[in-house]
Amino acid sequence: MIVATPDHWHKDISVDAMNSGKAVYCEKPMVHSVSEGAAVVEAQNRNKVVFQVGSQGLSSLGNEKAKELLAQGAIGQLNYAEGFWARNSPEGAWQYAIPADASEKTVDWKRFLNQYKHIPFDSKRFFRWRNYRDYGTGVSGDLFVHLFSSLHFITNSKGPQKIMAMGGLRYWKDGREVPDILMGMFDYAETKEHPAFNLSLRVNFVDGTADSTYLRLVGSEGSMNVEWDRVTLYRNKSYAATDDPLAATKLNRDNVSGYERKKIVPPNSTVYTAEKGYKGAHFDHFYNFFKAIREKNLSVEDALFGYRAAAPALLCNDSYFSNKAVVWDPENLKVVSTK
Ligand SMILES: NC(=O)c1ccc[n+]([C@@H]2O[C@H](COP(=O)([O-])OP(=O)(O)OC[C@H]3O[C@@H](n4cnc5c(N)ncnc54)[C@H](O)[C@@H]3O)[C@@H](O)[C@H]2O)c1
Repeated sequence: MIVATPDHWHKDISVDAMNSGKAVYCEKPMVHSVSEGAAVVEAQNRNKVVFQVGSQGLSSLGNEKAKELLAQGAIGQLNYAEGFWARNSPEGAWQYAIPADASEKTVDWKRFLNQYKHIPFDSKRFFRWRNYRDYGTGVSGDLFVHLFSSLHFITNSKGPQKIMAMGGLRYWKDGREVPDILMGMFDYAETKEHPAFNLSLRVNFVDGTADSTYLRLVGSEGSMNVEWDRVTLYRNKSYAATDDPLAATKLNRDNVSGYERKKIVPPNSTVYTAEKGYKGAHFDHFYNFFKAIREKNLSVEDALFGYRAAAPALLCNDSYFSNKAVVWDPENLKVVSTK
C-alpha cells in the first residue's frame, strides 16, 4: 500500500492498512501532528509488517557515503550542520494549477476533510492543501523533514532536544496559513552515537537565488556537502604554522634550528561522485522497500525512524505558532516543555 495522500490522512490510512496485514510505504512526513506518531509505531510493532517512510534521500549513495566518511573521522568531530531549500516560483511555493472541472462532483470533499472542520467546497484547499494547517504541515513538514531524515541516518541520531523557529509570510499572501520563510534552530545533545552539535535549517520561497538546496555537516577538521549522488569533502585542518608573529615566536622557541619542514598534505577538497548510470534516490528507496518485503526484514526507514524525523519538523511549526522554544525527548518521544 502506498500512502501518497495529503499529510492529514497518513496516520489513519497507514494504521488501517497495517491492521489488514499490508506492507506500507507512507510519504513524508509520517504524521500530521506529533501526537499521531505513537499509533503508527504501535501498529507496525503489533502487526509485524514492513513499513517505510518516503524520505528517499537516505537510501541514496550520497547519504551512505556521508555516513561512512563521518564514521571514519573525515571532518573530525561534528559540531554543526545546516540545510537550506530555496525556491522562487508559484509552483515551488505550492500554487498548483486547479482543474477547471474541480467541484464536489469530481472531488470527495467530505472524505478529504476527515475529522477537520467541515466547510463548503474550496478547490484551493483541496489542490493546494499544503498551505492550510488542517491538511498540510507547512514548509518544515514538507521540506525540513527530508533534511532530518538524511541527517539522522548519517549521524545515527534520534533527534534534537531543543527546537526554536522563526519566520514569516513575506510574499505569497494568497490566503495561506503558513509562513513562506522559516528558520529552525535545533540543539542536539551528546549521545553515545554522536557529540553535541547544533543544526540550522532554512526554507525561503521568495529567494532570488532559487533552486539552491543543500545539507552540510561541519566538523573540527572539515566539512562535507551531501547530495544524493555526490559528497564534497572539504578538509580545513591547519597543518603548517601561520605567519602570525605569536605563532612564529612559539615555533622558534620549540624548534631551535628554526627550520620548519613542509609536509605533504591531502587535497583541500575531494568530490565523491556516483558512477554514470546511477538510478538515484527515488529508485533506491523503492528498491529497499520491495527488498524488505521480499526478505521479511525491517525497512531502512521504519515507523520509529519516521516518527523521530517528523517530530522536530512538526515541533518547529509548534514553536513558530506559539512563539516558544520546545524541549523534546527524542529517546522517549515526548514533549518535555514549551516555554
Ligand atoms: N518524497 C518526496 O519527495 C515527495 C514529493 C512530493 C510529495 N510528497 C508527499 O506525498 C504526499 C502527497 O503529495 P502530492 O504533492 O502528491 O499531493 P497531491 O494533492 O498532488 O495528491 C494527493 C492525492 O491524494 C488523494 N487523496 C486525498 N485524500 C484521500 C483519501 N482520504 N484517500 C485516498 N486518496 C486521497 C487526492 O485525490 C490526490 O490524488 C504528501 O504527503 C507529500 O508530502 C513526497
